[in-house]
Amino acid sequence: MSKEIQGFSKMSKKEKIQWMAKNFLYANPIDVMKEFAGFWHDNIEAQKLLDGFSENTLTNFPVPFGIAPNFMINGEIYAVPMVIEESSVVAAASNAAKFWLSRGGFKAKVISSTKVGQVHFQFDGDKEKLFFLFNTEIKAKLLQAVKPITANMEKRGGGVKDLELIDFTSIEPDYYQIRCYFETVDSMGANFINSCLEEFGKSLVDIISNDARFNLEEQSIEVIMCILSNYTPECVVKAEVECNVDELGSFDDGKMKAREFAARFAKAVRIAQIDPYRATTHNKGIMNGIDAVVLATGNDFRAIEACAHTYAARDGQYRSLSECTIENNIFNFSLTIPLAVGTVGGLTSLHPLAKRSLEVLGNPSAHRLMEIIATVGLAQNFAAVKSLTTVGIQKGHMKMHLTNILASFQATDAEMEKARQYFEDKTVSVSGVREYLLDIRK
Ligand code: MEV
Repeated sequence: MSKEIQGFSKMSKKEKIQWMAKNFLYANPIDVMKEFAGFWHDNIEAQKLLDGFSENTLTNFPVPFGIAPNFMINGEIYAVPMVIEESSVVAAASNAAKFWLSRGGFKAKVISSTKVGQVHFQFDGDKEKLFFLFNTEIKAKLLQAVKPITANMEKRGGGVKDLELIDFTSIEPDYYQIRCYFETVDSMGANFINSCLEEFGKSLVDIISNDARFNLEEQSIEVIMCILSNYTPECVVKAEVECNVDELGSFDDGKMKAREFAARFAKAVRIAQIDPYRATTHNKGIMNGIDAVVLATGNDFRAIEACAHTYAARDGQYRSLSECTIENNIFNFSLTIPLAVGTVGGLTSLHPLAKRSLEVLGNPSAHRLMEIIATVGLAQNFAAVKSLTTVGIQKGHMKMHLTNILASFQATDAEMEKARQYFEDKTVSVSGVREYLLDIRK
């Protein structure tokens, strides 16, 4: 039987599920239908809205939506919505938030919020003439050409900030690009930027192909593509915490004193600065927190991820995004990260839970949201490195994972409660939990 299909997108949701079950699953199609339908939204309008976000949707894929309370950021308290499936993340963020709450909280500040787009083109001709005319005439004409698109954005305080012609011909024959800089205020701005870029592309060809100062070869300028760049090294925010080393307290039931902890913590961050293997995991811990808030607020976590890792490698080696210093007995831990997020437009207002998340955060501006997200990334990183350099990560992780293991053995509520008490002072493992359940089920 052929597994290929024509016209799949035209089929009803039920037909799609049946076709999938018949062709790709060994389960009974009736059971599959029940399972998938079990995750449909009761409210038909709400389901229609979700279906509209994507194509060929069969059902919804629920992921926990949690809250990490007690985040003091720039003197204000936030409860931060987080959407994530990894069991220990919200607990770790909440612990770090509480830890710093009694030590002055987090400080966060947007450094700049410039976004970037590119018009990539081929030009076979006189480079100097191109640069001269670009800077004296063409740039102004391009900016004029996008006025109908930028009018509204300008009213909100944004728009096109600058255009720069860049010569790549020493690496790729005839290849140039116009790098375009934008301010998109509270929106992530992808649609606005791409609309401007496509207009720049069309106008560029129009201007050069109709200018007699360019010869025929030059007039056959070709635009290859126009698209925003998800690398936004000038859309950057810094979050930090700071306290006297002695204020850090003691760890591992008093076995590790503040001074030793601070030194071990700073060393761990330093290791992530110099070794890409460790840096990747270290930054993954940061992204645990960042992605969870980005998702909860309806922002694009793929864009945030792609950008963060390029930024982490900006000097040619992949490094930790966070830094730790101990100077004059002051412990300082900071995270500087590019975050191109929005609080208007896109899913932020369309997805009812994204809208709620933003409401919980006090309907922040994009700048404030950048500060909140960077703070959660820093808190997450603090929690992970604190565990790693004190009691180790598995103690907390496996405690949280215990619920998942118990669920996989269909433990009842009473069994779960008993098991939690039993494993309170024991190492959690899948086989240990299996044996324990067999024992109490005897
Ligand atoms: C696990 O999701 C994240 C950590 O591995 C991060 C780290 O090692 O820093 C705990």
